Amino acid sequence: MKIAISGKGGVGKTTVAAVLARLFGREGRDVLLVDADPAPNTASALGLPRERAEKITPLCEMADLIEERTGVRPGTSYGQMFRLNPRVEDIAEKFGVKGQDGVHLLVLGTIKSAGQGCFCPESALLKALVKHLVLRKEQVVILDMEAGLEHLGRGTAQGMDLLIMVVEPGLRSTGVARQISRMSRDLGITRVGVVINKVGDPAQAELVERELEGIAVLGTIPRDEGLVEADLGGLSPLDHPGAARSVEAIDELRKRIVKLLS
Ligand SMILES: Nc1ncnc2c1ncn2[C@@H]1O[C@H](COP(=O)(O)OP(=O)(O)OP(=O)(O)O)[C@@H](O)[C@H]1O
Ligand SMILES: [Mg+2]
Repeated sequence: MKIAISGKGGVGKTTVAAVLARLFGREGRDVLLVDADPAPNTASALGLPRERAEKITPLCEMADLIEERTGVRPGTSYGQMFRLNPRVEDIAEKFGVKGQDGVHLLVLGTIKSAGQGCFCPESALLKALVKHLVLRKEQVVILDMEAGLEHLGRGTAQGMDLLIMVVEPGLRSTGVARQISRMSRDLGITRVGVVINKVGDPAQAELVERELEGIAVLGTIPRDEGLVEADLGGLSPLDHPGAARSVEAIDELRKRIVKLLS
């Protein structure tokens, strides 16, 4: 199962991605959670202690590794040729961090993109890596992404089994979801669904559904102070009893996904 999670800023992508990853982990699956957000914070939602999370170096900052694999050191690439197909098979194992419930976390970090399609050794390495991970058969891979899909190359996008767009009740959020949905069609992602998060009452969810007609709703998650408390305490929702309601909702989502993809 290869699942990408996208949506507008702050809607709950990281919360959903990290909880989902651990719930899959608890089922005994081999799970790789990829933090592909330029402002990485998936480690905290996964439940890694802050001291450990702060020690993780995002791959895009590993200048030696990037140079070794692409042939060019970041920042010196202007006008230089570098390998577009660097060796990446061992990177997840070597640089992934083991988190709770057996989930492996890989933090990619920022690709500083210069206009259309960034062309630098960092991005060449990350792109090749994500493509490799998505095409690997045995693992559950969950990508916690920023809103756009631009940095997913076509080959990578087509390897995704499911794109989940997290939305919150509000037209700005559903607008972004519609854009992402269009992009995903262009990229050849076959299955797209939404998760409606931060739902205060059922009428809000209905409005969102109407707004996103034609896109499958895979789950709803209540507005939950417990999630805010977990975040404030630096805890994963799974390690905070006050967030049990939301965890249950995300477990329902997990079941829907398994059904959909099996
Ligand atoms: N259902 C909910 N009810 C209340 N608060 C929530 C809910 N879901 C997420 N939050 C809170 O909203 C904030 C943003 O969540 P999260 O970091 O998961 O969003 P994100 O989409 O990954 O954000 P970013 O775009 O910055 O990566 C967090 O403080 C989180 O605890
Ligand atoms: Mg996030």
